[in-house]
Amino acid sequence: MSLYYEKKLNREVLKMHNFTYFAPTKLYFGKNVIENLGSEIKALGDKVLLVYGGGSIKKTGIYNVIKEQLQGCEVFELSGVDPNPRVTSVNQGAALCKQHGIEVVLAVGGGSVMDCSKAICAAAKYAGDDAWDLVKNSSLVKEALPLICVVTIAATGSEFDCGGVISNLSTNEKMGLVNPHLWPKVSFIDPSYTCSVSKYQTTAGSCDIMSHYMEQYFTTGVNDIGDGFLETELKTVIKYTPAALENGNDYEARAHLMWAATLGCNRMASLGNDPSIFVCHAIEHELSAFHDITHGIGLAIITPKVMRYILNDKSVNKLAQFAHNVMHVENSGDAYADAKAGISALEKFFASIGVPEGLSKIGVDDTHFKAMAEHACAYNPLHKAFIPLNESDVEAILRQSL
Ligand code: NZQ
Ligand code: ZN
Repeated sequence: MSLYYEKKLNREVLKMHNFTYFAPTKLYFGKNVIENLGSEIKALGDKVLLVYGGGSIKKTGIYNVIKEQLQGCEVFELSGVDPNPRVTSVNQGAALCKQHGIEVVLAVGGGSVMDCSKAICAAAKYAGDDAWDLVKNSSLVKEALPLICVVTIAATGSEFDCGGVISNLSTNEKMGLVNPHLWPKVSFIDPSYTCSVSKYQTTAGSCDIMSHYMEQYFTTGVNDIGDGFLETELKTVIKYTPAALENGNDYEARAHLMWAATLGCNRMASLGNDPSIFVCHAIEHELSAFHDITHGIGLAIITPKVMRYILNDKSVNKLAQFAHNVMHVENSGDAYADAKAGISALEKFFASIGVPEGLSKIGVDDTHFKAMAEHACAYNPLHKAFIPLNESDVEAILRQSL
């Protein structure tokens, strides 16, 4: 760490806070790890609910590999889980679990399938019949069916965290369900499964991974280990995303993106830091709730706007540190100029990997901005963010992102 940061960042305010951490998910990472699925499933039960999305696993052949591993199990299926998974799918899955006495849920897909499955696991053990009750009040989750994940896209890190995000189309809400009972028991992470992911979804996934790390980076009180961890993860995604876009079958690129994704959302990167408030996520979830947009793309559009909006005397040194250490902006000695150059470099990177330049390009207009800002502030502690935000701030950021 250079003298520049030691001095400018007021190191005395940085602390290593106490923490307790328990991540009870067994991870299998690498090619062909799926060979262990059969024995892991059977250790938990033999009545299985297999959950998947719109059919990519059938096109890639992963479905057949899974079915082979499930020989000897009684398998029920819930397919057609949408991106931005709906509470109606959760209710359908939970009803199947209750009706057939399912013992273990197997999610095969991306964040949407894994999140839907987590909510199914909780709802299957809930006496009520609407999982939205649990999304609105996660303390109602007292137990859950065991979950195994087979992840097929590098993005959310849902395979290694205890949260899920569920949408309710009837109320225009998209909200997180976080509870310690929702850690997967086992996750299978074979990067070669992600080689078939489209360019657009690869870009969206990488932007989501980066956002998870940036949300934890832009806060007060990040210890040196946290800073180093977060900067390395961000540089890794910036390095390998173009390679994966250039050649979808580049295993090294896919593997680095996959591992960066897996570690991103379970807060391991920010242990000991001040708590981080996921500001961009809070805003993006409102956009998805009203317009059903792709999560990572929405994040990539609003993140540089948020960074510009929060640039002030309190944030400038951290934004300059990001510029120097992540975006390779040369240190000019003018923190404001460097911070702005870092934000521009980030925008340029996003454009180079195919992120549309504004919300209007992905079908969003300003009709619901006020309602989105109100909901985002009502359900997220944005007033406690690095730079506190209120409803009018959020609305202004949305307008600047159009
Ligand atoms: O549905 P299928 O046919 O499987 O196709 C999917 C979907 O269309 C496709 N896909 C996935 N793996 C593929 C593939 N296509 C070809 N080959 C493969 N191997 O990709 C599309 C997107 O899938 P989705 O699961 O929606 O993507 P992602 O993993 O980005 O998940 C996004 C959802 O997760 C939530 C988001 O809000 C969004 O609802 N998040 C979950 C988090 C968590 N649990 O920790 C944190 C995140 O911040 C995020 O909010
Ligand atoms: Zn995310």
